[in-house]
Amino acid sequence: MSQQLTHDVLVIGSGAAGLTLALRLADEARIAVLCKGSPQDASTYFAQGGIAAVLDSKDSIQSHISDTLVAGAGLCHEDAVRFTVEHSRESIEWLIGRGVQFTTESKSDGKENYHLTKEGGHSHRRIIHAADATGKAVSNTLTSEANNHPNIELYDLHVAVDLIIYKRQCIGAYVLNRQTGRVDTFLAKCVVLATGGASKAYLYSSNPDGNSGDGIAMAWRAGCRVANMEFNQFHPTCLYHPAAKFFLITEALRGEGGHLKLPNGERFMHKFDSRGELAPRDIVARAIDHEMKRLGAECVFLDISHKPADFISSHFPTVKSRCLEYGIDITSEPIPVVPAAHYTCGGIIVDEQGKTDVNHLYAIGETTFTGLHGANRMASNSLLECLVYARSAFSSIQEQIKTTSIPKSMPHWDESQVTDSDEDVVISHNWHELRRFMWDYVGIVRTDKRLQRALRRATLLQQEIDEYYSNYKVSSDLIELRNLIMVAELIIRSAIQRKESRGLHYTLDYPNTKSEAQDTILKPDNFPNKP
Ligand code: FAD
Ligand code: SIN
Repeated sequence: MSQQLTHDVLVIGSGAAGLTLALRLADEARIAVLCKGSPQDASTYFAQGGIAAVLDSKDSIQSHISDTLVAGAGLCHEDAVRFTVEHSRESIEWLIGRGVQFTTESKSDGKENYHLTKEGGHSHRRIIHAADATGKAVSNTLTSEANNHPNIELYDLHVAVDLIIYKRQCIGAYVLNRQTGRVDTFLAKCVVLATGGASKAYLYSSNPDGNSGDGIAMAWRAGCRVANMEFNQFHPTCLYHPAAKFFLITEALRGEGGHLKLPNGERFMHKFDSRGELAPRDIVARAIDHEMKRLGAECVFLDISHKPADFISSHFPTVKSRCLEYGIDITSEPIPVVPAAHYTCGGIIVDEQGKTDVNHLYAIGETTFTGLHGANRMASNSLLECLVYARSAFSSIQEQIKTTSIPKSMPHWDESQVTDSDEDVVISHNWHELRRFMWDYVGIVRTDKRLQRALRRATLLQQEIDEYYSNYKVSSDLIELRNLIMVAELIIRSAIQRKESRGLHYTLDYPNTKSEAQDTILKPDNFPNKP
């Protein structure tokens, strides 16, 4: 029998965004936090490089803002950038207060300071980090705090299927319990989507498996607008090895002096940008793609072996040991790397408090479009955005739940018309087909023809998957596939609308950048403020 559970706030997602919000709210509200597997399955857990923040006395808020605007290729919303950067120090102090242990270094005056590293696009050292496993340190600390708080209930192995909208207000979600196979009803005064990005729409990705854009798809079905979905960030350097499923080689490795090389050992980045290996990511990924296609090479190489072995081992212990598992000793040889889909710059449109177009529905973290990232996210600004917007959403939700009431019960999930699937091959086949055509036609370099081809395929898959969804009981694979195909279509439609090249969206048909920068905004048919 399905259950019905009621909380003050339902947070869907236990990455940096969801856990930060839950912990901020926990002293005044009862909170349910859902995740598909465990908190270790989120992108947050795998974050390596660190968190960008203005912490050094020689750095300035203005400099962090300017770097973000340059990386964003004219499309960042300056107010969102300023808001985020101005709250960076407070957000880091909050994490430190919770117990996150960032890497320190001893100064010549004997003082211990936080070590700050550098990444592409940053003109200062401003990335605070926990060696090369920052996400693990953040995730473990926040998860353990959440587990110990009496007002937070963490629901592992729970996958939200769809939001419940009642009288134009979001009052909960239907949620598949993967252990029982039942769909339960979670009711709450406010619902928060903290579901991460959609990079699993691509065949090769740095992301963990669950990043299927569920929040974006659920919000779209509920009537929310989305923006700038065409800006899909490809991280330039993921490990290239047949046995490595997804493993990133952090940009901090280039920040600390790593060189990108062709198979013949030649460096090449200065041919493309005077900032060399530390140019913004869109430029580095495109340069690698260009060189691989020019040479017919399977990968390029990232080499830090000219640095002392001790330095490499202390700064990059995770990368070192993971590469060793594949027989690559980074202290003495270069690492084979390729670009892979990494980050979704667009998403659900929210305001400064994380409010979406639907009443009582909030969104925070990678699933959102806040205006911060523009056409290309600068490295390490993502975790920062999670922390800053979780804090501002908290203030708004705290007020909202005081005056909100919701129905005591809602109809249970109706399974009377569906049966158990007898053809799961449809799911695995369509999943593969989708990610393949997104990689081939909607990747680093696009054309109108490729996008039209992709749209035709997406439309066909959409019909097949909808039909399957109407006939069979939901499973987590089916939920993800249904969401991925919807998000893929949003990406393709947005890419078709942009008749220029800007930041991460590069098309051979319109290689120039227009003088005026505009967001691509898509509205669903059931948009609540539809005229
Ligand atoms: P996530 O951390 O992705 O968490 C999403 C959560 O939502 C998960 O718990 C998931 O289970 C849950 N979820 C999703 N859908 C559902 C559903 N339907 N039902 C229930 N739960 C659901 N950024 C930086 O700033 N610095 C870095 O150094 C950095 N390194 C990175 C390295 C890697 C390998 C990757 C993949 C990303 C990196 N990023 C980095 C990006 C950054 O980690 C992410 O953007 C950020 O962690 C997103 O946090 P989030 O809380 O929004 O989502
Ligand atoms: C990395 O460590 O290279 C990832 C940083 C990021 O995605 O912001």
